[in-house]
Amino acid sequence: MRIAMIGGGYVGLVSGACFAEFGINVAIVETNPERLSALREGRIPIYEPGLDALVASNSQAGRLTFGDDIATAVAGAEAVFIAVGTPPRNGDGAADMQYVHAAARQIAEALTGYAVIVTKSTVPVGSSRRIAEIIRQARPDADFDVASNPEFLREGSAIGDFMRPDRVIIGLDQTRPERASRAEDVLRRVYRPLSVIEAPLLFTGLETAELTKYASNSFLAMKISFINEMADLCETLGADVHDLARGMGLDGRIGRKFLQPGPGYGGSCFPKDTLALSRIAQEAHSACRLVETTVQVNEARKAGMAGRIIAACGGSVAGKTVAVLGLTFKPETDDMRESASIPILHRLAEAGAEIRAYDPVGMVAAKPLLPESVTYCGDALDAAEQADVLVVLTEWNIFRALSPVELRRRMRTKTIVDLRNIFDPAAMRAAGFTYESVGRP
Ligand code: NAD
Ligand code: UDX
Repeated sequence: MRIAMIGGGYVGLVSGACFAEFGINVAIVETNPERLSALREGRIPIYEPGLDALVASNSQAGRLTFGDDIATAVAGAEAVFIAVGTPPRNGDGAADMQYVHAAARQIAEALTGYAVIVTKSTVPVGSSRRIAEIIRQARPDADFDVASNPEFLREGSAIGDFMRPDRVIIGLDQTRPERASRAEDVLRRVYRPLSVIEAPLLFTGLETAELTKYASNSFLAMKISFINEMADLCETLGADVHDLARGMGLDGRIGRKFLQPGPGYGGSCFPKDTLALSRIAQEAHSACRLVETTVQVNEARKAGMAGRIIAACGGSVAGKTVAVLGLTFKPETDDMRESASIPILHRLAEAGAEIRAYDPVGMVAAKPLLPESVTYCGDALDAAEQADVLVVLTEWNIFRALSPVELRRRMRTKTIVDLRNIFDPAAMRAAGFTYESVGRP
């Protein structure tokens, strides 16, 4: 079986490599020349654990190829996946569909025989039908069906998520049952290896599949914002948010996952998908008030975190040295999109702080987004040198192993603001630190 993947970013590259691992011949099309030349030279342009080995072994086996010629990739492909970006459109937060529509036009030109055009990008409801229209207008003779197959992988654990998904959602045009069943057959063959592990393949209509992606991400974002608000309440009332989350999460209806408080969610998906769902509802003359509120709560939280650090420094950071551990929006990725570190570090720099930052893999991507005055350090202890406060922004495992004795030796003032709760409060206080974390007494 041959398939094409349009877009070799976080989703396209991971999905493409995993499909190749399933034994399918995958041609990835990437138009960014730097990304493409890296891929062709066997370098992985993003940081994702395990991806280098997966790409290397499948490239060597000849199942995974990279190019910028869509015609070569699409020729003979039974399915063509669209995995290009859908960033928020300036101004209104709706998904910017220009890359998806451009890909659809290019696919139309390249089609030779029957293919299923599958949207993996996160797209507004109605997009699959719009893609079908674009292709039909450009190539009235083309034999194709469209499908919506939203992707649920997380960065940092993308391969495991893709290989062992909780579910695979596939939306088809159920108004045309014969066509839908032909497309279903192709996609069942693409995902066949997952039937061995009994991962559910859920077939729905196109609109339902598109909406399910936004609903899932918005629900998770809401869950995080809820626990963040509970953390604030715990602090005021002297309760412990981790015990509270355990107490709630043991109820199977609630579940234990995504109840970790922090500085506010970031990343390439939750912020833009919550905004896009709010927009979708407004355009449908409906409302998703819970989601709109989640967006506001999260923005306020990220913006407010700097204030918390300033308060821990006695009300001012002017002339003080702030050591920052972790810059990416979560560990095990180099992605800085919508990271809480961006508003926090800008506010601290404006307030006169001297910032010494360290992130294991995110510093290259961070530089253009953070204040120019930030000093990038060689490791966590280097960042802590002569610091007045140490702030944990991303919970990289390597930070958990830091010796309090060593930190104390390096720092000028013994204050820690741990916005990811990676340290034990009692141990840090016993080591002589003024220690603040999130939602713990
Ligand atoms: P990305 O920006 O990392 O990758 C997109 C890639 O597509 C870029 O490398 C770009 O150069 C390439 N591209 C754009 N137009 C092209 C074209 N016409 N032909 C060939 N290549 C083209 O984006 P991403 O993070 O992989 O996200 C892609 C989509 O998947 C988005 O809709 C996103 O919402 C969704 N998604 C992302 C994640 C995630 O964790 N990043 C998870 C699930 C879903
Ligand atoms: C998310 C969805 O989880 C995934 O299904 C979708 O395909 C893409 O968007 P991702 O953005 O890679 O994945 O990371 P995720 O682990 O969901 O974390 C997103 C943000 O929420 C991070 O900033 C993280 O720190 C934060 N988060 C997550 C919390 O603050 N608390 C939690 O309990 C979980």
